[in-house]
Amino acid sequence: MDAFIIRGGKQLAGEVCVSGAKNSALPIMAASILADSPCEIHGVPEIRDISTMAEILSSIGAKVSAEAGTVKIDPAGINNYTAPYELVKQMRASIAVLGPMLGKFGKARVSHPGGCVIGPRPVDLHLKGLSELGTRIKIEHGYICAEADELTGADIFLGGRFGSSVLATANIMMAAVKAKGNTVIESAACEPEVVDLGNFLVKMGANIIGLGSPRIIIRGVKNLKGVSHKVIPDRIEAGTFIIAGALCGKKLVVKNALAEHLKALLDILRKSGVEFDIGDGEITVTKTGKKEPSDVITMPYPGFPTDLQAQMTTLMCITPGISIITEKIYPERFMHVSELNRMGARIHREASSTIVAGVKNLSGAPVMASDLRASASLVLAGLIAEGETVISRVYHIDRGYEDIESKLMKLGADIRRIKEV
Ligand code: UD1
Repeated sequence: MDAFIIRGGKQLAGEVCVSGAKNSALPIMAASILADSPCEIHGVPEIRDISTMAEILSSIGAKVSAEAGTVKIDPAGINNYTAPYELVKQMRASIAVLGPMLGKFGKARVSHPGGCVIGPRPVDLHLKGLSELGTRIKIEHGYICAEADELTGADIFLGGRFGSSVLATANIMMAAVKAKGNTVIESAACEPEVVDLGNFLVKMGANIIGLGSPRIIIRGVKNLKGVSHKVIPDRIEAGTFIIAGALCGKKLVVKNALAEHLKALLDILRKSGVEFDIGDGEITVTKTGKKEPSDVITMPYPGFPTDLQAQMTTLMCITPGISIITEKIYPERFMHVSELNRMGARIHREASSTIVAGVKNLSGAPVMASDLRASASLVLAGLIAEGETVISRVYHIDRGYEDIESKLMKLGADIRRIKEV
């Protein structure tokens, strides 16, 4: 297993280029199952979750090749409708193959993803929406077994206890594009990645309106063709580098970053005293002077993203005063807290909130990565801590960040990867 060794205290300066969005590329790869000819997807990050999705598509019979950020998928040979436990357990987003397999073949067997380290992650909304399109669903031996003679458009309310669901919206959209008649998804997710998937489907020939709003209307079509598409930039990676700039940057230019996808983060940072310039497809953190504490609540888009909660917490750790961060999407997503406290942070958890009392410095320590975004928060903490931080189990970060240590090194960070025994 790999680990990162970071010697903190370096100032970060220069340019970093954000990769394509993992959360767009994954459902778009799954959507290519629906095509009658090969698809070419560009700007795909070279990360572990993408390889897992490629393995799932290959395991059902698609021909998949990946080179230099371009993934080619030919779905013609698909002859198996099972996404196996061994692959699904590595990545919950594997469930995104359920909708397109049903849309194309009327059947799918996908391992039930269960919970994960950031808390319970039910799939009831996926199953509800697909049932309302006319799918018969059984859970057997840990698998979601879904079958439909013919999918039929329906009015589907897709809101849950925590608001909209990104992948449930994606799944219903991918099943409905070939269903008979019209589907209306109410309380649809508005995330830019859902819009990107929708745009991909529209290029393929789907009839969808309302993308980016909570009401998506789909008129089913008979056939969808293979197309070429470039995925949008990864707003979570961009946000992570912007927070790095706020922590220890000096004119840090984040390229391939879309400010319109990052409004909630930029608004909080501006209010807490971080200065930045917004350019065409880039954001430059110009000054990281005295910061003010903030009160952040995670919410579905366009609210503050849960996927930046842990990284924002690191910034709060060294912001004078008391900051509060409340998690409304995954109320148990606080695995980073005890590790940050080991580095000298003063974070107190209270139900689904953390109260962060700013300290002057963090102090390097051996810490353990627990999930993708928690790992990112520890890397950020390592960059500002006094002395050496060793982060174990960085395979978590490899799931979602392309080459993060090279990108940070080029900015001036002292970070290296080692093999741990
Ligand atoms: C996606 C993102 C993930 C991000 C999350 C929330 C991908 C590949 N992953 O995950 O990085 O953290 O959105 O922005 O795009 N829920 C239900 N029932 C369901 C489905 C979800 O109750 O059937 C709940 C979840 O437990 C959670 C909330 O709804 O509390 C939002 O989850 P959801 O948007 O579905 O997350 P994912 O799509 O899995």
